[in-house]
Amino acid sequence: MRIMLLGPPGAGKGTQAATIEKSRQIVQLSTGDMLRAAVAAGTEVGLQAKSLMESGSLVPDELVTSIVSARVDEPDCANGYLLDGYPRTLGQAAALEDILAAKGQALDAVIEMKVDDDQLVKRIVGRFSCGKCGAGYHDEFKKPKVENTCDECGSNEFKRRADDNEETLRSRLMAYYKETSPLIGFYTCKGNMHSVDGMGSIEAVQQEISALLDKLGS
Ligand code: AP5
Repeated sequence: MRIMLLGPPGAGKGTQAATIEKSRQIVQLSTGDMLRAAVAAGTEVGLQAKSLMESGSLVPDELVTSIVSARVDEPDCANGYLLDGYPRTLGQAAALEDILAAKGQALDAVIEMKVDDDQLVKRIVGRFSCGKCGAGYHDEFKKPKVENTCDECGSNEFKRRADDNEETLRSRLMAYYKETSPLIGFYTCKGNMHSVDGMGSIEAVQQEISALLDKLGS
């Protein structure tokens, strides 16, 4: 199955993608994670993306599409994948249509996660992750079970993203409403658009998505 999670920064895409990846055995493809890895490694792509990401702007369509196009050809994507953060513009959506059509495939479902702006600010400002395995946490909504210890790998090292502050979030939200939200109309017209209430607890959202995927036959 090929699924896409669509929603503003902090909607919970990464959180839910991690659970779906484990429970449904389909690989999570996060363009944000791929770009951050490129920045950390100092590659050509990373050098082009760094300042744009730090300012909350989108990186160019061609750059991100070339990364996704190569990634979906890898063997672990053969049984399907979960797109987290791609496509993000109508241009990227058109490019994805071409990538899929060349393989005789289609997106089975686009799941929009609806969350109010005030809640997005709280989620972004309080987010942190394990510096070793990348497991995601929140100061208030998802604390490690044992203080300062990762539930997944036991590490005591945590990190926060450079773009997780209120000022950059405003630019990221602007980019979402201006460039990404038109995708809701695009996929509604294609007939594969579904929406979930992202305002509930992590577990409640998980259950709503799981019920939807069961219904769709994943
Ligand atoms: P990216 O990394 O994709 O960031 P984003 O879309 O802004 O999304 P986030 O990762 O911030 O939020 P999320 O929805 O995954 O929330 P999470 O689950 O972590 O992109 C970063 C940058 O890369 C972009 O700004 C752009 O520059 C570039 N980029 C990436 N893809 C691109 C593309 N296709 N084209 C162009 N540029 C691109 O949750 C957030 C927090 O809330 C966590 O702490 C979590 O524990 C908590 N939480 C989650 N769900 C709940 C809940 N239900 N209740 C309470 N707390 C919750």
